[in-house]
Amino acid sequence: MATRRISRCWSAAWPGPGGPLVIVSLRLVACVRGKRIRESIFGPGHKGVFVSRILLLSDIHANLAALETVVLDAESRSAMDRVWSLGDAVGYGPQPNECLARLRGLDALAVAGNHELAALGSLPLEQFNPHARAAAEWTASVLTAESRQYAESLPEKTVDGDFTLVHGSPRDPVWEYLDRAGVAAANLPFLETPHCVNGHTHVPVVFPASGNDDEKVFPGHEQTVDLKAGRWFVNPGSVGQPRDGDPRASYAVLDDSAATVSFFRVEYPIGDTQSLMQKAGLPGMLWQRLSRGL
Ligand SMILES: [Fe+2]
Repeated sequence: MATRRISRCWSAAWPGPGGPLVIVSLRLVACVRGKRIRESIFGPGHKGVFVSRILLLSDIHANLAALETVVLDAESRSAMDRVWSLGDAVGYGPQPNECLARLRGLDALAVAGNHELAALGSLPLEQFNPHARAAAEWTASVLTAESRQYAESLPEKTVDGDFTLVHGSPRDPVWEYLDRAGVAAANLPFLETPHCVNGHTHVPVVFPASGNDDEKVFPGHEQTVDLKAGRWFVNPGSVGQPRDGDPRASYAVLDDSAATVSFFRVEYPIGDTQSLMQKAGLPGMLWQRLSRGL
């Protein structure tokens, strides 16, 4: 018979627009055959309540070595009850089918990025620079039917609890770079949840919806940002092609109990990915930049 342990804890709700922070939720934490299950007493997905620690992945860019290293690191921190993927799982890198299969295996809640759409022929490649265009054409040529079917199933925007998931921004999920607090503020009319998680810039950052640039945070490794007050746009950085000068893979973890997001960097075997890119004939600039994190 399965052992079942129930414990209880209070969870702080996210304040609504202009509303105070209030304590509203009693959650149940059950252990069934060693698997921890958390559930709001108001039901799974109840607005205002997290239901788990969520691993945030973005811009994997077909870099399986980086993805596997991140997953192992997150597992070692007990930080992946659930997984969200914020687009561009393919493009640039050498293993698009393997990365999409891994996301399916992780049962990730995922959205499409501009590189999924390009590989599917849904975006004009003229909008890409020559290196990105060459990589998109290569990706399209190697995608399996199963990968295409999965990529086609991804929405450009989705909602889970108090978070909207997009690749770019709520206003333009495919293309807009959310790279300043002012851009975050301009996106508020398009954000129907308290908070947003996004990718696309390849730089880990937390922007306040207030538009006050002084409140933005460019987090370092193992830095935790408090999200209890205000509304926020959270970017976990890029797993497979960081562009902030740090070549280590970047990811983040949303913590439901603490209402925080923590950021992590992890070294991975960059040379393995570079070798596969060279063998695939992908542009040299694309594999060389991985060593610089730019
Ligand atoms: Fe990207």
